[in-house]
Amino acid sequence: MVTAYDATFARMLEEGGADALLVGDSLGMVVQGHDSTLPVTVDETLYHCRAVARGTTRAHLVGDMPFMSYQLGGDDALRNAGRFLAEGGMHAVKLEGGTDVAPTIRRIVSAGIPVMGHVGLTPQSVHAMGGFRVQGKTSDQARRVLADACAVAKAGAYAIVLEGIPAWLAGRIRDALDIPTIGIGAGPDCDGQVLVCYDLLGLSAGKPPRFVKQYEEFHARGLEAMRRFRDEVREGAFPTEAHSYGLRAPDSDKVVDLPGAREARRRRSARG
Ligand code: KIV
Repeated sequence: MVTAYDATFARMLEEGGADALLVGDSLGMVVQGHDSTLPVTVDETLYHCRAVARGTTRAHLVGDMPFMSYQLGGDDALRNAGRFLAEGGMHAVKLEGGTDVAPTIRRIVSAGIPVMGHVGLTPQSVHAMGGFRVQGKTSDQARRVLADACAVAKAGAYAIVLEGIPAWLAGRIRDALDIPTIGIGAGPDCDGQVLVCYDLLGLSAGKPPRFVKQYEEFHARGLEAMRRFRDEVREGAFPTEAHSYGLRAPDSDKVVDLPGAREARRRRSARG
């Protein structure tokens, strides 16, 4: 699984073999430039969901429910979850949390909406966690993460993201659950893996976190491409005939001068 936020990337990632695309609320950070996922709204996420859905034909599509779109539970959470399928073209929703959100997961699932869970480092709780920190390092914390994962599975989630936990704990959780675990910063003992597409493509500037593997260097390549475009435009090397329509008039003697053209030419040559 990888994240996607627009049709062009979704098409490329699906063609490249992604089984599932997650329209993650990480869009708040990588697309919108915020320093957390908290400001992202349902309407903004749905805009990206529709774009991703239009760009794909095969992949399983998961829409990430943003902060405060499900935390109140009840009708509010169910109505918002429904919008991801009805308006966003998604096949499932993902929401963060464990025992606290289990009743909400149960309610959404019983309405026929598949739910993917997400435990461990849950970015919507960044302030409660004191930052983006690995969770489950002490045995108390580890027991809590395991209990959260079990509660999510018991509530009817069909899969679960394990984020930012020690690899050994992810292995224990996988062994304890009947549903697939999808890891990010959770080591190799998960059934699947997910990365933010900007991270795996090397699109973000700066040093990536330890759990990220950059399979490309799109940021560096993008800089290089932009600089070449700028230089070629300045040097007059772009566009050439190959990238132009009708560079030369078919028969210059017969071309009628447009009003003002002769005067403009005179001013131009006077300027040198
Ligand atoms: O929003 C997101 O991109 C996510 C993944 C990192 C799992 O939740």
